[in-house]
Amino acid sequence: MSTNKSNHLHFGGMDMLELAQTYGTPLYVYDVHKIRENAKAFVDTFKQLEVPFQVAYASKAFSSVAMLQVAKQEGLSLDVVSQGELYTALQADFPVERIHLHGNNKSAEELDMALKHKIGCIVVDNFYEISLLENLVNEYQQAVNVLLRVTPGIEAHTHDYILTGQEDSKFGFDLSNGQAEQALLQLLPNENINVMGLHCHIGSQIFETTGFVMAVQKLYQTMNHWYQTHHYIPEVLNLGGGFGIKYTEEDEPKPLAQYAEVLVQEVKKQAGHFGLPVPEIWIEPGRAIVGDAGITLYSVVSIKEIPGVRTYVSVNGGMTDNIRPALYNAKYQAVVANKLHEAPTKTVSVAGKCCETGDMLIWDEKVPDSIEAGDILAIFSTGAYGYSMSNNYNRFPKPAVVFVENGQSQLVVKRESYQSLTQNDLSYE
Ligand code: LLP
Repeated sequence: MSTNKSNHLHFGGMDMLELAQTYGTPLYVYDVHKIRENAKAFVDTFKQLEVPFQVAYASKAFSSVAMLQVAKQEGLSLDVVSQGELYTALQADFPVERIHLHGNNKSAEELDMALKHKIGCIVVDNFYEISLLENLVNEYQQAVNVLLRVTPGIEAHTHDYILTGQEDSKFGFDLSNGQAEQALLQLLPNENINVMGLHCHIGSQIFETTGFVMAVQKLYQTMNHWYQTHHYIPEVLNLGGGFGIKYTEEDEPKPLAQYAEVLVQEVKKQAGHFGLPVPEIWIEPGRAIVGDAGITLYSVVSIKEIPGVRTYVSVNGGMTDNIRPALYNAKYQAVVANKLHEAPTKTVSVAGKCCETGDMLIWDEKVPDSIEAGDILAIFSTGAYGYSMSNNYNRFPKPAVVFVENGQSQLVVKRESYQSLTQNDLSYE
C-alpha cells in the first residue's frame, strides 16, 4: 500500500480517489503489473529449474477477455471449467492448444465444444465422461489429449493438511480403490485418446508445502505401480493450484516461487527414486495470480452506531460483489482511501447493502474516527473469486472492472446496466 501527496491510496501507480470519481463505485481495480509479476514468479522458477512446464491460469478466479489477454501475453496456459469460460478464452483469442478443460460434470455439449476447437487437453473426471468422450472421438475420428484427474487422498486445509483414510470428493477417480487404474485401462486402448498423464488438486488457499509434497509422493507410488504392471509412463503431471495468498496480517503464505520449487524438487526426487523420466510439470494457480492484484473500492453510505455494541459502516456493495465473507467467513482488510493520513483508531464493521444479515464484508476493522458518508473504502486482495462469484441478488448490477498499469487506467468490464438486468426477462400477459 502506498499513498500519494494528497494522502490518497495509491494502487498500481494511480490515485484511487480519482479512479473512484472517474468510474464510480463499487469498482474492482486490478494492478496489471502485479498480475504479471505473480505469473512471472511461477514461470521464471520453472525456467530456472529447467523442467518442461505449463503454468495454467485457473480462470475461475477471474475470467474476462482482458484478463485472458494478459494471461496469454505472460505465456500462461489456461484452465477452463465450463463452456462460458471456454467461450471467453476464445473471445480473447487464447491459443487453443494451451487450454485445458476441467469439470466434474462435463456435458456432451461442453466436450463437443472442446473437441471442435481442438483445445490442448481435457481433464477426465469420471466414467460417465469417459463414455461421452469415447462416443464423440469415435464419431469424429478425432484425437484428443486427456489427463486423468485422480484423488490422491490428501485433504488440504487452509493452514495444514490431513491425510484422509478414505477419499470423499466429488472430483476425480480414487487412487485407493482402483477406480483410477480402471479408468486408465479403459482409455489406453482407444487410439483416439492420448492419456498424457495425471492431474490432482488438493485444495485451495494452502500455505504449507507439505500437502503438495505428499500428493507428489502418493502419485509416484501409483505411477510406479502403473509402470510395473502396464508399462504406462505419464508425460505430464498436473499438480493443480491452491497456492495461498495474504488476505490479512494473520496469513503467512510462502513466496510463490517456493511453491513451484518444492514441487519440482519433489517430482525430480521421486522420478529419480523410481527410475522414471521427469515428466512435464503443470500447475494451475488462480488466486495466486490475481488475488492480491485486485482491490475493491466502495463508497461509504450510512453509518449506524449502536452505543457500546458496534458501529456498522454500510457501503454500496457487499455479498453481490464479494460473497466470500458470507460464504466462507473469509477475512479481509480495508482502509479509508481518502484518509490515509488519519490514524485508524475506531473499530467498525463493514456491512453490505443486501437485505440479509449475513451480508457483512469485514467484522472489526480499524478506520479513522472521522469516517463518514462519501468516504471511499478500499478492500484489499479481492482479485480472486470476487468478480467471478458476483451475482445480482437484490437486482444489484455487477460493478465495473478497471485495469491500471504504467500510470494509465482502462475500463475492461463495463458496469452492468439496469437494462441488462432485465434484458432476458419476458413479460407475462
Ligand atoms: N485447479 C483446480 C482443479 C481447481 O479446482 C481450482 C480451484 C484451481 C485449480 C485454482 O485454485 P486456486 O489456485 O485459485 O486456489 N471460490 C473459492 C475457491 C474455490 C476454488 C475451486 N477450485 C474461494 O473463493 O476461495
